[in-house]
Amino acid sequence: MTFEVTVRARSGAYKVYCGSNTILMLPDIIMGTGLAGKIFLITNKRVDAIYGEKVWEILKITGRKVAKVSIEDGERYKNSGTVTKIADALLRYRCRRNDLLVVFGGGVTGDIGGFAAGILLRGLPYVHLASTLLAQVDSSIGGKVGVNHRLGKNLIGLFYQPRFVICDTNFLCTLDLRDWRNGMAEVIKYAFIRKPEMFDKIFGLQDFPWFSVDVIDEIVHDCIEIKARIVEEDEFEQGIRAILNYGHTFGHAIETYFKHKKISHGEAVSMGMVAAAKLSRNLGYISNDEVKLHIDVLSRFGLPVEMPRIDIEDLLNIMGSDKKHLQENRFVILKKVGKPVIVEEVDQQEIISALR
Ligand SMILES: NC(=O)c1ccc[n+]([C@@H]2O[C@H](COP(=O)([O-])OP(=O)(O)OC[C@H]3O[C@@H](n4cnc5c(N)ncnc54)[C@H](O)[C@@H]3O)[C@@H](O)[C@H]2O)c1
Repeated sequence: MTFEVTVRARSGAYKVYCGSNTILMLPDIIMGTGLAGKIFLITNKRVDAIYGEKVWEILKITGRKVAKVSIEDGERYKNSGTVTKIADALLRYRCRRNDLLVVFGGGVTGDIGGFAAGILLRGLPYVHLASTLLAQVDSSIGGKVGVNHRLGKNLIGLFYQPRFVICDTNFLCTLDLRDWRNGMAEVIKYAFIRKPEMFDKIFGLQDFPWFSVDVIDEIVHDCIEIKARIVEEDEFEQGIRAILNYGHTFGHAIETYFKHKKISHGEAVSMGMVAAAKLSRNLGYISNDEVKLHIDVLSRFGLPVEMPRIDIEDLLNIMGSDKKHLQENRFVILKKVGKPVIVEEVDQQEIISALR
């Protein structure tokens, strides 16, 4: 199945094409952009090894000159050093403003490539071919691009929207189980914050690698729709966009506590959503059954729902220095499933008991 979603961001509208084999639409879509220059394919070594040749051949159909820049794979290369390497390669190939950067990979490559596009020659057009579940349902939409600094994640960045996005769900078949599950944590988040009707599809979806392509196409489409509407309302994260951080305040702190090593982002967000659900219940909003729904749906996809052994005091200190905290103790909680709110003042004891 193929779906098209338009993201009407204030800084420019663009389309997201999702579904199996949408990658084959790439030459026509590029030719429709009116950009007549060269094409720079930016990918990482792992994705390049699996799909590089195929995508290269597809790009060649445009008749344009194509050059490839392959970066190292992994979050630890999401830094200004990698951006400099991309800049060196592009400037050596005499990159111009009517050239197009085709950024191909997951969230890490997307964030780096989009950021390089945003700053080179004061802004080059770019598109994202999103190849992980997380990138398809989340990071490729909304134009948040950037790299990490040694003092924290995503501290150097921009809001810079792509010209279009392609989310070909066939790419998901070659993911690692852990990367699939990282994406599933975000999928489940959307159902809790905006669309509880998605739970039927989510419970009907087999876990990796036995998932149905038709069901995942629909789920990816639902998530893109939700994110697109939120981005349209609040492109620069002045308010409502923060609801996308459901479970993330706790989750980021857990990731940082374990120094981004032992626990993946999706696993941390999963535990974070359970903590946020317990906080919502303890504040008198959702029921025990709704907390149990969190536990059931997350554990169905092998995501952790119980806190590892942790020093709560240290975790609270980390939370106080999360850059997304405009104030300490600012949380996204659920008034009911599908109705999130941002709360400014939460008693520290409530946070501690949600974590336990
Ligand atoms: N910009 C945003 O709005 C936003 C939102 C959420 C997360 N993020 C960022 O996204 C990043 C995480 O993204 P991710 O989970 O996609 O990680 P990732 O990009 O590191 O991809 C995970 C692994 O899968 C590999 N891979 C990618 N596509 C593949 C495929 N089709 N088959 C096999 N392997 C494949 C990658 O090479 C990598 O090894 C983090 O840096 C996070 O900060 C950004």
